[in-house]
Order: sequence, then C-alpha cells, then structure tokens
Amino acid sequence: MFKGNPLRRRQYIGSLIGIAIGVICYIILPMKSAEDFLSLGPMNTGHQDLSCVACHTPAKGNLFQQIQANVAKTFGARKSGVDFGTENVDTKKCLECHDRPNDRHPTHRFLEAKYQDAIAKIDATQCETCHTEHNDTRVVLPDATFCVNCHYDLEVVNDPIDVPHSKLIAKKQWSTCLQCHDFHGNHIYKTATKIKDTISLSKIDAYLKGGKDPFSDKKKYLPLSEEEWQKVKKKYKK
Ligand code: HEC
Ligand code: HEC
Ligand code: HEC
Ligand code: HEC
Ligand code: HEC
Repeated sequence: MFKGNPLRRRQYIGSLIGIAIGVICYIILPMKSAEDFLSLGPMNTGHQDLSCVACHTPAKGNLFQQIQANVAKTFGARKSGVDFGTENVDTKKCLECHDRPNDRHPTHRFLEAKYQDAIAKIDATQCETCHTEHNDTRVVLPDATFCVNCHYDLEVVNDPIDVPHSKLIAKKQWSTCLQCHDFHGNHIYKTATKIKDTISLSKIDAYLKGGKDPFSDKKKYLPLSEEEWQKVKKKYKK
C-alpha cells in the first residue's frame, strides 16, 4: 500500500491512531459509565423526583478539552484531572439546595484545625460521609453512635434530663443521643427530658435507612425544589 509515497503512508497511520482514540473516548469510556449506571441503586429518600442533571451538571469544557486535561495530569503537567462528562457531585452541590443557616453541625465549621482529629475518624466536612447517594437511604452510617467522635468530653451545666448526660457518657450510651437530638437541628419539636419519652432506637434506625421521620414533620428550612433551583441558576448566569 502507498508504495513510494511516505506522506500518504504517514497520513494513513495518523488516521488509524485517530480512529483508535475515537473508539476509546466515544465508545469505551461511555461504556464504563454505562456499567456504573446499571449497578447504581435507587435514588435516596426525597430525591426520587429530581432529574439527573439537578446533581450531575455538565463539566466545563468540551470532551476534547477534558481528555487533554486528563492526559496532562497523567504526565504530571496538571495537579488534578477533570471529571469526564459531569462535575463531581460534592458538598458544594448539595448546599445549592440544602443551605441551612441554622445547621448546628455545618460542614464548613469542621474545616477548622481544632477538629482535625475528629475529622480523621468521621469526615463531617463532607455530606457524602453520611449521605452517599444512589443507596435508597437517608443516612449511610452503620449505626447511630458516631456522636462519640466529638462529644466524648461533653459536659452539660444545669442538665435538664433525668439520667444526666455525664452518666449516659460514662456508661457509653452513645446510641441514646439521636433518640433525643436530631443531627442538624432543623426539626421543630420539643427535646425529651426523660429517658422514657425518647424516640425508640428502632424508629431511629428505620429513619436513617430512609423511612418515616420520627422527630417531626415540621422543619425550619426546606430544600429548594428542582424548579426553585433552576430559577436560582438562571439568576447566576445573567
Ligand atoms: C441528589 C443528587 C443526585 C441525583 C439527583 C443523581 N445523582 Fe448520580 N450521583 C450522585 C452522587 C453524590 C454520586 C457519587 C459522587 C460522584 O460520583 O460525583 C453519584 C454517582 C453517579 C454515578 C457514578 C459515576 C460517577 O460519576 O461517579 C452515575 C453513573 C450516576 N450518579 C448517574 C445518575 C443518573 C443516571 C441519575 C438520574 C437518574 C442520577 N445519577 C441522579 C448524586 C446524584
Ligand atoms: C436540586 C436540589 C437538590 C440537590 C442538588 C440536592 N438535594 Fe437533597 N433534597 C432535595 C429535595 C427537594 C428533597 C425532598 C425534601 C422533602 O421531601 O421535603 C431532598 C431531600 C434530601 C434528604 C432527605 C430529607 C428528609 O426529608 O429527610 C437528604 C438527606 C438530602 N436531600 C441530602 C442531599 C445531599 C447529601 C445532596 C448532595 C449529594 C443533595 N441532597 C442534593 C433537593 C436537592
Ligand atoms: C456526620 C454525619 C452527617 C453529615 C456530614 C451530614 N449529615 Fe445530614 N444527616 C445526618 C443524620 C444523622 C441525619 C438524621 C438526623 C436529622 O434529621 O438531623 C441527617 C439528616 C439530614 C437531612 C434531613 C433532616 C433535615 O435536616 O431536614 C438533610 C436534608 C440532610 N441531612 C442534609 C445534609 C447535607 C446537605 C449535608 C452536607 C452539607 C449533610 N446532611 C451532612 C448526618 C450527617
Ligand atoms: C465532627 C464532630 C461532631 C460530631 C460527629 C457531632 N457533633 Fe454535635 N457538635 C459539635 C460541635 C463542634 C458543636 C458546637 C459546640 C459548641 O458550639 O460549643 C456541636 C453541638 C451540638 C449540640 C448543641 C447545639 C446547640 O445549638 O447548642 C447538640 C445537641 C449536638 N451537637 C448533638 C450531637 C449529636 C446528637 C451527635 C451525633 C448524632 C453529634 N452532635 C455529633 C461537633 C460534633
Ligand atoms: C432524654 C433526652 C436526651 C438524651 C438521651 C441526650 N440529650 Fe443532650 N440534651 C437534652 C436536653 C433536653 C438538652 C438541653 C438543651 C436542649 O433543650 O436542647 C440537651 C443538651 C445537649 C447539648 C448542648 C449542651 C449545652 O451546653 O448547650 C449537647 C451538645 C448534647 N445535649 C449532646 C448530647 C449527646 C452527645 C448525647 C448522647 C450521649 C445526648 N445529648 C443525649 C436531651 C437529651
């Protein structure tokens, strides 16, 4: 083929390489995410009505620029790669709809250096630590005792409860905390002061797994719906 014409020959090899890259980028890469997609679980509680793009917004740059950036990363020219196709769904994304000024455990607070040790045990700077998506759940933590990581030395002055906090903590009763306190402090309800009035552990467990809310159906802040979020997005763009 192309006898005596090295230029045609090089062009031929060049286009073969082009086709190979095309096959990898346009067929194999999407297949990998297709596989991920098929193995995904159902949406979490409350997210059933959201469309995929409410969380998976298209990444910046076209596919070619994304590939370039990732190749550059592979060879050390860039510190971080870029996400193919869509941006990473991170805490910032969640806060676009779930920003609650009253959160008693806001993710940003735990960026402070003094929480470094606690964060090594439970990374409270990221929603994802406790709310992994596509799991048909509300909270993914294996149990309700994670308060211990930060409140192990808690002292409550003028303690109003019948079995004082100091005693609960001395006896390592860490699963009782959620039976009286919600985590974010967003429910409107009266905190129990007697152990006999607490929410049962089985109801708490069912709630964490995605079931009925045992604290209250009243909340101080509701998340933005997809329509409300769309409007906010449009305002940013102008
Ligand atoms: C409430 C937000 C949210 C919605 C809505 C959502 N996802 Fe996700 N999805 C996530 C999070 C969080 C992850 C894991 C972190 C990540 O990959 O960025 C994820 C991961 C994935 C992944 C694994 C690959 C990857 O990028 O890590 C796929 C594929 C995916 N989602 C597809 C979908 C599809 C399809 C829909 C619509 C049916 C959808 N998602 C709706 C939040 C969401
Ligand atoms: C486009 C807006 C939007 C985005 C983005 C979003 N959510 Fe939601 N989320 C909602 C809506 C709306 C509900 C349903 C609220 C309801 O049923 O009252 C909800 C429900 C929830 C619930 C259950 C609330 C309950 O009633 O118990 C959790 C937990 C939650 N979202 C966490 C997250 C996390 C973590 C992320 C980021 C991965 C995220 N959300 C991203 C809008 C959003
Ligand atoms: C350290 C674990 C942890 C982290 C980090 C965390 N959550 Fe939660 N979240 C919980 C637990 C536990 C509950 C159930 C108790 C409650 O309702 O407060 C919950 C409940 C919720 C609810 C339903 C109750 C409500 O407040 O309306 C929403 C919505 C929610 N989380 C969103 C988020 C978002 C968004 C982030 C990140 C900005 C986040 N969470 C970070 C543990 C966590
Ligand atoms: C990553 C660390 C961390 C974890 C985990 C954690 N907390 Fe906290 N919590 C804090 C910090 C920090 C404060 C603020 C203390 C202060 O302002 O003095 C706080 C405050 C509180 C308050 C008082 C809020 C107020 O407004 O007075 C309650 C109640 C509370 N936490 C309950 C819990 C419960 C219940 C759990 C487990 C389900 C938990 N916390 C898990 C760090 C944590
Ligand atoms: C029987 C219900 C009950 C149980 C169980 C309980 N608490 Fe409390 N807690 C209260 C009440 C009531 C207050 C007073 C303030 C209020 O109303 O929120 C309080 C106050 C607090 C405060 C705020 C302290 C301050 O000085 O402002 C923190 C933090 C706290 N609890 C954490 C915990 C942790 C961690 C656990 C698990 C070991 C726990 N609580 C178990 C009912 C309870």
